Amino acid sequence: MKIRSPIVSVLGHVDHGKTTLLDFIRGSIIAQKEAGGITQHIGATEVPIEVVENIGGEFLKKLGIKETLPGLFFVDTPGHEAFTTLRKRGGALADVAILIVDLNEGFKPQTYEALNILKMYKTPFIVAANKMDKIYGWQTHERAPFLENFPKQPQSVQEKLDTRVYELVGILHEEGFESERFDRISNFAKQISIVPISAKTGEGVPELLAMLMGLAQQYLKEQLKIEEDAPAKGTILEVKEEVGLGVTIDAVIYDGILKKDDTIAIMTLNDVITTRIRSLLKPNPLEEIREAKKRFKKIEEVVAAAGIKIVAPNIENAVAGSPLRVARGDFEHVKEEILKEIEDIKIDTDDLGIVVKADTLGSLEALVNLLKDMKIPIRAADIGDISRRDVVDASIVKNEDPLYGVIIAFNVKVLPSAAEEIKASEIKLFSSNIIYQLIEDYDEWIKAAEERKK
Ligand code: GTP
Ligand code: MG
Ligand code: NA
Repeated sequence: MKIRSPIVSVLGHVDHGKTTLLDFIRGSIIAQKEAGGITQHIGATEVPIEVVENIGGEFLKKLGIKETLPGLFFVDTPGHEAFTTLRKRGGALADVAILIVDLNEGFKPQTYEALNILKMYKTPFIVAANKMDKIYGWQTHERAPFLENFPKQPQSVQEKLDTRVYELVGILHEEGFESERFDRISNFAKQISIVPISAKTGEGVPELLAMLMGLAQQYLKEQLKIEEDAPAKGTILEVKEEVGLGVTIDAVIYDGILKKDDTIAIMTLNDVITTRIRSLLKPNPLEEIREAKKRFKKIEEVVAAAGIKIVAPNIENAVAGSPLRVARGDFEHVKEEILKEIEDIKIDTDDLGIVVKADTLGSLEALVNLLKDMKIPIRAADIGDISRRDVVDASIVKNEDPLYGVIIAFNVKVLPSAAEEIKASEIKLFSSNIIYQLIEDYDEWIKAAEERKK
């Protein structure tokens, strides 16, 4: 019997500070480097228990929580409205969650959406009331616990903060949850803690982590036990070529144990296939698997929850965003499970419509969501680089309706043969690594084209 790390998903409205909070905890600066300033994929980071203890400090000790957990496995989710599926997946993965709300903005559409996901999965959560450093007159004491800091603030600041906190309490009440500022809670089993924090300065984060550990202890004891031979379940984050390794899969393992000699079942563009792992590589703790650079350690097995790089044959066409399962002579059953999991990611297509390409299932669906909102018909929506076939597809449409004879591509490359064909057929290509940019550009182009027609 082993104890796995609890998965802590961070959910909330766009720009309310999810990635910045994780940056503070792991000492990184990912939020600043994101294209368009938004998160567009699922992020995952293992935080060792010592790091949690260091930040939690005295406060964690005072709570008298005896640590039995190897660490916390944080999952970052996108807040942009288009990424509903990734938020849902983040919510579904979570053992516990942090619902982050910008104190100064309060509940926004994706805060409600996130709350509903937590309701649906009955996930225990705490609320981080973020950006308290932006309250007018706030005096910052970097990394300080809230309870040490709050009494030092001017009366007016204290009152303003509490007003905002109790606005959250009011909304949560309407949504069916009893809540309270964490230090005024009388019944932890009934009330949800609201912890005022600043992800930027780290103020209040000690208590946030302490409350999180408390929640994990309270709810997860049984849930975190796994058998020695429990087959791994995971999700493919990315498929990429690494110098010296060939094609590799970056994956999150959220359940079970993955062993070096395991056979895994994965989805490719055409089918579900099996392949035998050649090596398992682990990034350093505190590194996001996607960001990890070269500093991998070869390992024999990995216990959930963890980010892992997998080297194996025949994985070139593995689909990013799709499930991964260990298969042990039960391939048909595992295949069924994989297909079932992606069932709801079906995209309706029309003959007369645009061609959409994206790097992962999650981003493809997000892009399709946005296009559907604009009532744009879609001829084909696929994962992977732009091929000659895509351009031919768009050309056929262009002959009938030039407005839809285009390719919209998120975070993928143009294959050389496709590049030639684009030139020859004068197909309009919209390509960007920022999802809303694509939509804006295409929208502008359509408007201009319609203008020209008049
Ligand atoms: P998405 O992933 O796109 O949904 O956004 P996010 O929730 O991850 O927010 P992100 O971390 O990208 O932060 C958005 C902006 O708010 C950035 O400019 C941050 O620097 C800023 N920010 C986040 N937390 C704080 C905070 O506590 N105080 C202040 N002053 N700014 C913050
Ligand atoms: Mg983010
Ligand atoms: Na953001």
